[in-house]
Amino acid sequence: MLFFPTMCGIVGYTGPRQAAPVLLEGLRRLEYRGYDSAGLALVADGRIEVYKAAGKISVLEKALGTTLPAGHTGIAHTRWATHGAPNTVNAHPHTDCGGTLALIHNGIIENAGVLRTALGKRGHVFRSETDTETLAHLIEELLATAGSVVNAVAGALHQVEGTYGIAVVSTRDPETIVAARRGSPLLVAIGAGENFVASDASAVLAHTRSVVYLDDGEIAVVRPHDYRILDLETVEREKAVTRVDWDLATIERGGHAHFMLKEILEQPESLRNTLRGRLLEEDGTARFGGLNIDDEQLLHVNRIVFTACGTSWHAALIGEYMMEELARIPSEVEYASEFRYRNPIVDERTLVVGISQSGETADTLAALREAKRRGARTLGLVNVVGSTIAREVDGGIYLHAGPEIGVASTKAFTSQIAALALLTLKMGRLRALSILQGREVVRGLARLPELVERVLAKAPEVERIAERIMRAGNVLYLGRGYNFPVALEGALKLKEISYIHAEGYPAAEMKHGPIALIDDLMPVVFLAPKDAVYQKVVSNVEEVKARGGRVIAVVTEGDSGLAKLADQKIEVPETLDLLTPVLTVLPLQLFAYYIAVRRGCNVDQPRNLAKSVTVE
Ligand code: AGP
Repeated sequence: MLFFPTMCGIVGYTGPRQAAPVLLEGLRRLEYRGYDSAGLALVADGRIEVYKAAGKISVLEKALGTTLPAGHTGIAHTRWATHGAPNTVNAHPHTDCGGTLALIHNGIIENAGVLRTALGKRGHVFRSETDTETLAHLIEELLATAGSVVNAVAGALHQVEGTYGIAVVSTRDPETIVAARRGSPLLVAIGAGENFVASDASAVLAHTRSVVYLDDGEIAVVRPHDYRILDLETVEREKAVTRVDWDLATIERGGHAHFMLKEILEQPESLRNTLRGRLLEEDGTARFGGLNIDDEQLLHVNRIVFTACGTSWHAALIGEYMMEELARIPSEVEYASEFRYRNPIVDERTLVVGISQSGETADTLAALREAKRRGARTLGLVNVVGSTIAREVDGGIYLHAGPEIGVASTKAFTSQIAALALLTLKMGRLRALSILQGREVVRGLARLPELVERVLAKAPEVERIAERIMRAGNVLYLGRGYNFPVALEGALKLKEISYIHAEGYPAAEMKHGPIALIDDLMPVVFLAPKDAVYQKVVSNVEEVKARGGRVIAVVTEGDSGLAKLADQKIEVPETLDLLTPVLTVLPLQLFAYYIAVRRGCNVDQPRNLAKSVTVE
């Protein structure tokens, strides 16, 4: 069973007030993180009462009824499922067999399968398919001999591999919340005669601005009038109290000015989550948990049609190149809005792959329905678990990129490219792709997050270049091969958030018309990594320079040749040709962002645009 990290919200309260209203308000403050189920547990009259529901917090409130349950100590959770149905059973909190403790969790317990099997053999009964529940039963087992909840929690965490941010309540210590952190943020918030725990300050800012941030390997024992911070050996340690002076909106953006910038900078982590558990280096291939199409059926496929809109359509173009180069399967890309109304040739040997971050884009959904109607097998590459497209396709690959709030798609795009490379690996290794070629792609994918970090560290360089061209009226983006779709994507990013007109073209197409536009007032952005078509792109740069054009080039680190030709350059590390788009798109995302900010545009909600186009 594969587990994947969930982007959850955590809030806990212990004090003189009724806990339920405080917890519900805290969950509402965490809604921005995106979620698909919610729940809470209260300690009252020597019992643990658990309430949870799939869907929004309003569904949970309905389950709670008009008179909120009693209890002055409780914990609450919003779950953004990245794996496994977002249903009530899988919603947190999770309890032990005896219902004497409840636990909420953010992160992934990588050895949950092993622990679960051992606990099952010792008689523990599991109700959900989550890794979190394993921890509840492990603590229950240790509680019998540990002498206290905190010792049982510490003992359990010594056995856990992976990441966690947890909060635990128990009938054993009814006023106490035990929290712990390794890899998922958690803090203690200090009130007057009451205390809180939370995954981020937004959940408790209404009550206090005094917080203690937990570090990895720390445990907090929180009671109404006091709290202690311990290490995993339960040795107490002194921690500074921090005053949170951010406003709520800034906290939700992780301290960044905009969600778009937060999401651009999250890409090393979102890529890790897309790749997590899916790379098989030994066999040079990829594995998926929900493809629902077996190898024999995949071998029966003789043609692939990618269909999508906008940025996802650009990712589809990269998928087409990958699939034909490495899997040797005839592939094509269709705008979903076109595919659905023309009379496409599709049959039971066609695999139609719908790519959609939101999983709700009307045109893409309609195109997939049309493909199914014509007998094709359908796959969805989707970010939002449980979305309409995810539910209607025959099988799918979840991106696990986490919620993407900014209207301009950034981390979803790079995760789409990684997911397409994984799919290509799977399809290719069923056909002509050798194990050595497969291993090379696996290694290239595994290195991507660290290469992305190196490019993002150059953000100040990109910002300086952006300042110099923010008044341009038009910008041309040019690229070849795998970077032609990146040219289209760079142009779209600039258009949709800064309202500057921009066009992306295959670099060689310039001489068939667009070269007439070249003058010193129109910046030309070249994607020119050292790939198979590099020399051809150098020629195109020379053509632009010969006509007085201004060139900004995205080049491979150490490229002295082209770098002399360009007026400005941004360097990206070397990687496999098919993976260069993940790196070359990053400066273009930042470029559009900085220009839009300088032009005073509404970066996260550009005019006329919606995050998910659920209408035709
Ligand atoms: C991309 O920045 C735009 N927000 C838009 O083109 C978007 O990619 C398109 O609407 C498709 O959305 P989807 O991936 O959710 O289907």
